[in-house]
Amino acid sequence: MAAAVAPRKCMGLECENNAGTLQCPTCLKMGTDSFFCSQDCFKRSWSEHKAVHKKSNFLTNLFPPKVVSEPDPVTGKYNPFPSYQFTGSLRPVYPLSAPRTIPSSIPHPDYAKDGFPRSEQKFVGRHNVTILNKEEQEGMRKVCRLAREVLDIAAREIKPSVTTDYLDEIVHKACIERKSYPSPLNYMHFPKSVCTSINETICHGIPDQRPLEDGDIINIDVTLYHNGFHGDLNETYYVGEKALSNPDTVRVVETSRECLEKSIELVKPGMLFREPGNVIEKHAKSRNCSVVKSYCGHGINQLFHCAPNVPHYGKNKAVGAAKPGMCFTIEPMINLGSHRDRTWPDDWTSTTVDGSLSAQFEHTLLVTEDGVEILTARLPDSPGGPVPMPTAEKGSEN
Ligand code: MF3
Ligand code: CO
Ligand code: CO
Repeated sequence: MAAAVAPRKCMGLECENNAGTLQCPTCLKMGTDSFFCSQDCFKRSWSEHKAVHKKSNFLTNLFPPKVVSEPDPVTGKYNPFPSYQFTGSLRPVYPLSAPRTIPSSIPHPDYAKDGFPRSEQKFVGRHNVTILNKEEQEGMRKVCRLAREVLDIAAREIKPSVTTDYLDEIVHKACIERKSYPSPLNYMHFPKSVCTSINETICHGIPDQRPLEDGDIINIDVTLYHNGFHGDLNETYYVGEKALSNPDTVRVVETSRECLEKSIELVKPGMLFREPGNVIEKHAKSRNCSVVKSYCGHGINQLFHCAPNVPHYGKNKAVGAAKPGMCFTIEPMINLGSHRDRTWPDDWTSTTVDGSLSAQFEHTLLVTEDGVEILTARLPDSPGGPVPMPTAEKGSEN
């Protein structure tokens, strides 16, 4: 026989109803119970109720909690860094979704467990670039083709109102369907399966609950680990029609796309790894754009990041020359304003210091006997792609 339990009362102001399963998200986080009968009642009682969150004891005075904004009473969403001076108008929208997992039947890279890519750190010789044999090159071709498929699937979902967390779910599932591990997941403790970088974000944006807006640009950076090899690519996309009608937006995105194309034209045996930066910076400057220096292209193979280092800025001192069988990325990040970057307190999201737009494109490349193979090349039906630079008249149109 079931014991008679008094039904739980709603905490709402002067509310006589029984409570449902709805709880205050702040109380939940603080580990206290507070049930309400409805969103309406919760909203009505908010100005009184929030006082209970402030109830502090000596411990919270000694160890002040990290400052977090109040969750919106209706949606439960909040800015985790309300006192951080953001450089632009983009804000993180938390909570992040629950961690996603990969079936253990899919091979995981070494860092999947504890976040530390040990194989990358102990790799012999900082400037030793691996030359892949024919079978390993096939492994790179395969993972890069799969990575392109996954990027294209995610990019087809882009439209105003879609959240970057939804794009993360799409990428995560598409990786599993391809028996691949999403390389970003837990790499140096990165919390999600893909990087999504909006507007002033240079790179390494964490997928969250912010809906895309008409006029945004978004970079999706996908890396897969399949059969022992990593394949890495990214593209920047326009969100809605508004983005396409802004001449500055088109200028930074198309300049970044062209910088990657022009630098790939150089790649063949004998190319010095310091050369792409000269071509990239020259083109960026011709469009009155700047080149980010803090992040570089990188070797990629059985390791996510390894030698060579490939800077995107001019007059750099990168070591080494391309040889057949080497794999590396080029991934220029181009800004409308300052080249300088600033990282959010999440320790990942890199933004422009002045809040200006930033755009990036990335390919994984294989050096061949007489040139280069773009392993992550676009397919005939890939979404996105170049748009014409706005002419002077178009720019003044509304
Ligand atoms: N894909 C990025 C690159 O192009 C690296 C992302 S690392 C992560 O090198 F941890 F942020 F995912
Ligand atoms: Co990448
Ligand atoms: Co990369």
